[in-house]
Amino acid sequence: SQHRLLIKGGRVVNDDGTQLADVFIEEGIIKQIGLNLVVPGGTKTIDATGKLVMPGGIDTHTHFELPFMGTKSVDDFLTGTRAAIAGGTTTILDFVIPSKEQSLLEAYAQWRERADAKVCCDYGLHAAVTTWNEQVAKDMETLTKEKGINSFKVFMAYKGVFMLQDDEIFQVFSKCRELGAIAMVHAENGSVITELEKEMSTLGITGPEGHLLSRPEKLEAEATNRAITIAEQTRCPLYVVHVMSKTAAEKVTEARLKGQVVFGEPIAASLGADGSHYFHKCWRHAAAHVMSPPLRDDATTGPYLMDLLANGSLSATGTDHCTFNANQKALGKDDFRKIPNGVNGVEDRLAVIWTKGVETGKLDVNQFVAVTSANAARIFNIYPKKGRISVGSDGDCVIWDPEAKKTISAATHNQACDFNIFEGLHCKGLPIVTIVAGKIAYENGQLNAVQGSGKYLDTTCFAEYVYQKLNKREQIREQKIQEQKIERDPYAGEVLDIS
Ligand code: URP
Ligand code: ZN
Ligand code: ZN
Ligand code: ZN
Repeated sequence: SQHRLLIKGGRVVNDDGTQLADVFIEEGIIKQIGLNLVVPGGTKTIDATGKLVMPGGIDTHTHFELPFMGTKSVDDFLTGTRAAIAGGTTTILDFVIPSKEQSLLEAYAQWRERADAKVCCDYGLHAAVTTWNEQVAKDMETLTKEKGINSFKVFMAYKGVFMLQDDEIFQVFSKCRELGAIAMVHAENGSVITELEKEMSTLGITGPEGHLLSRPEKLEAEATNRAITIAEQTRCPLYVVHVMSKTAAEKVTEARLKGQVVFGEPIAASLGADGSHYFHKCWRHAAAHVMSPPLRDDATTGPYLMDLLANGSLSATGTDHCTFNANQKALGKDDFRKIPNGVNGVEDRLAVIWTKGVETGKLDVNQFVAVTSANAARIFNIYPKKGRISVGSDGDCVIWDPEAKKTISAATHNQACDFNIFEGLHCKGLPIVTIVAGKIAYENGQLNAVQGSGKYLDTTCFAEYVYQKLNKREQIREQKIQEQKIERDPYAGEVLDIS
């Protein structure tokens, strides 16, 4: 029956090891793992011989039905989670982003309303802090203590819309630290970008290439470094979203080497596509790739970011899935500044990372699980409920065929958008079955996802894993301060001698 499932004959892969074992799931929870399991009669069996059984992917970064730049992203919580499942992802973390008139709490309620009715898999939420005042501080506290949110994103870009100043960022990070939450940052120097955009206009550059040319890599690296610096001063853990360049990744790497609690998130796009498309002859093709920070115009950034994932300098992967169709991208037909920013990836991420990471020999299968699922679960405090195949964990798994092949195309994908930035990429290594809450939600190209069946993950209140790391650092810091204290005698002879 549907509430009992036995996955037989596969190799169970976690981030710390691999074992030949069967997996028995009942009522949505993994109940047994091993060989020769005794299971109730009538249990449905899936043959996974020769295949890998891995924890379902966790996409740390989506924007489903986001009102943004005068329109709304086309993948909603239904098409978005269906596409996720078709790609082997079973948990998505979306961003609550309040509109100008909205409080954080109102925006949170709206996101829950949009998502709960539609999601086909479990989901969690981060929240974006786009203004700073006492009420926002209170709302952050409420979200953390009552609504299951423990991660807050600030924007250093989108000047005049979402961008915060350094002192405001300092306040948000301090608040995060007080609440035991993780600070997240969109790191790009928005003020300088606005000036460079004006320069492009003066030069008569109005096409999508202007998007890339007005957002140089240095502005991403500078802002990344600035965010890391502010995080250090506020002693707050930091998660840098959508790491798009080598030099930004290096800032994260350097800080980690010095022991700071910083995480970097490359996305499917930065690992598997590049910025040469901004110069494509076809406007629509070029505009389809417009996202911020932009894809970098060289073939070496993707492989470099993959190397940093492999050596642990970068931690988790998302997609920043935020899709707009041709007619929406056309809002910026005469001015690249008005092209809605965002690309696809929620369905493609696992296959792209396998193809570019495992097939190339950079990642082993355990590292693949780490960077697509387990690390994200740890950082955002949903581990081992998510991110692990273990007894007691949720029955969210993907059965992976390392030999299966396909060519990515918008013509065949499940994402609602009419373009795919990975169009034509030959993938080797694909999900063949996706199990969501113990039920087969995708099998051999067939989706059987249930609308509204996903649950909101409100277990994320205190960022335990991250703060364990941070508190160790704090102890050492306080010890050092104590050691530096000088014992002064106010009546020392030398002082008195002056008179
Ligand atoms: O271009 C992007 N990244 N669109 C989504 C919003 C954001 O900045 O994450
Ligand atoms: Zn962003
Ligand atoms: Zn084209
Ligand atoms: Zn984003």
